[in-house]
Amino acid sequence: MTLLFVNAKQVVTCTGAPRARVGAEMRDCDVRTGVAVAVEGERIAAVGPRAEIERACAGASVIDCAGAVLTPGLVDSHTHAIFGRARYEEQELRAAGADYMAIARQGGGIHASVRDLRARDAGELLALARPRLERLASYGTTTVEVKSGYGLSIEDELKMLRVIGRLSAELTMRIVPTWLGAHEIPKEARATPVARASYVKMLRREMLPLVTNEHLATFADVFCEPGVFTIAESRDLLIAARDAGLKLKLHADELAPSGGAELAAELGATSADHLAAISAAGIRALASSGTVATLLPGTMLFLGKGTRPPARALLDAGAAVALATDFNPGTSPTPNLPFILTLGVSELHMSVSEAVLAATVNGAAALGLAAETGQLAPGYSADLALFEIEDIRELPYWYADRRCMGTWVRGKACHSSHLPIT
Ligand code: NIG
Ligand code: FE
Repeated sequence: MTLLFVNAKQVVTCTGAPRARVGAEMRDCDVRTGVAVAVEGERIAAVGPRAEIERACAGASVIDCAGAVLTPGLVDSHTHAIFGRARYEEQELRAAGADYMAIARQGGGIHASVRDLRARDAGELLALARPRLERLASYGTTTVEVKSGYGLSIEDELKMLRVIGRLSAELTMRIVPTWLGAHEIPKEARATPVARASYVKMLRREMLPLVTNEHLATFADVFCEPGVFTIAESRDLLIAARDAGLKLKLHADELAPSGGAELAAELGATSADHLAAISAAGIRALASSGTVATLLPGTMLFLGKGTRPPARALLDAGAAVALATDFNPGTSPTPNLPFILTLGVSELHMSVSEAVLAATVNGAAALGLAAETGQLAPGYSADLALFEIEDIRELPYWYADRRCMGTWVRGKACHSSHLPIT
C-alpha cells in the first residue's frame, strides 16, 4: 500500500550520508516546503514536490498533515525503561543535600531498583513498561534503545532482556536491546574484593554467553565510573562482549573524568554516553574516532548538578553528537525527547539543526542504524513524526510541551493524538 503525506508546512528530511553527521554537516537538517512524502509498504519511496509525487502515486491513501511539521521519527538511543517502582523520594533527598552516589552507597539508587525489580515477575514488568514506552512514543520517538541492568543476577537480567524482547515483538516502535549486567556491583557482591571479582567474572563467563546464545541483546554496556566499574573491568567486559558478537556502548565520564571516553574510542564502541565530566583528552579521543558522543543533559538537570555535557566543545572538535533522554527511575524520569532538544539548544548551545540531527540521524548512528532510520529519504524505513508546529524551531521552543500528533514506524501508525492545530 502507498501512503502519501501531504500538506505539511515543513518537511524536515535530515537527508545525507547514512552515518553520523559531524562538524558543518550538522548545520543543515534540510527543511523543505511544498513537498510530499510517499511511503510504499515499510519504506520511504519518494520525497519531492507535492504535484509530482501525487501524479506518481495516484490512488494512494492520503494523510493530510494540515500545516504541521513532518520529521523523521525521533531516535532515543539511551533508556533504562524497564523498572518497577518510581524513586521520587531520592529527588527530595538530593534537594536536601544528599548526593546521587552517597544515596547509592546507602543502598538507594540503582540498588533500590534492583531489590524492587527482583521481586517482580516478567508479566508485571511488561505491564509497567508498555505504557511507559507508549509515553515515549507520544512525544515523537519511533526508535528506542532499552537496557537491562536492574537485575544484576543471571535470572533477573535474563528476565529483563526477555521482557524487552516481548515488547519489541508486541509494540510498533522499534526497540533495540542492550545488556547492562554491569550497571552496578550488586550489594551481595560488595562485601569483599573476592566477591566483587567473582561478580565481574560471572558476568563475562556465565551471563554473557547466556545473553548471546538467546540473542537477547544487540549491545553491551557498562557503567564505568569511580565507585562502580573500573576502567580495567570495563575493558575486560567490553572486549569479551565484542568477541561474543555484541556492539558496544559505555556509560562514560558521567560524574568524574576517569578515561571512559578514551576507552570507548579505543575499543571502537558505537557510542560513549553521558560525558558530563569528559576530559580534554576524552574529547580529542572521541573526535578522532567513529564513536558517537551521546549526551544526556536531562540527567544533570534532574540530579541538580551544575555541570552539563560539553556539547559545543565536542561538536567543534568534530565529534559526532547524539541527544537522548536516559529515561530511568533514578536520574532522568522523562519520556520527552523534544524536551532534551530544548536542553540541547538552551543549555548546551546547540543550534536547532544540530539538536534535531542529534536526535534523528546521530541517534540512529548511536544504535548502528544510520542506514535504516533517522532520515526521510528513499529506501529508509518509513519512520515519521508529525508535530503540531509550523516551524521546526518551535520543537525545542515550546519546552516540555507535547506537540507530537502522530508517529509511524515501518509505514505503520504507531502513536496518534487528535490535538487540533493551533
Ligand atoms: O544513566 N548512571 C547510571 N545509570 C543510570 C541511572 C540509573 C539509576 O539511577 O537508576 C543513568 O543515569
Ligand atoms: Fe544510563
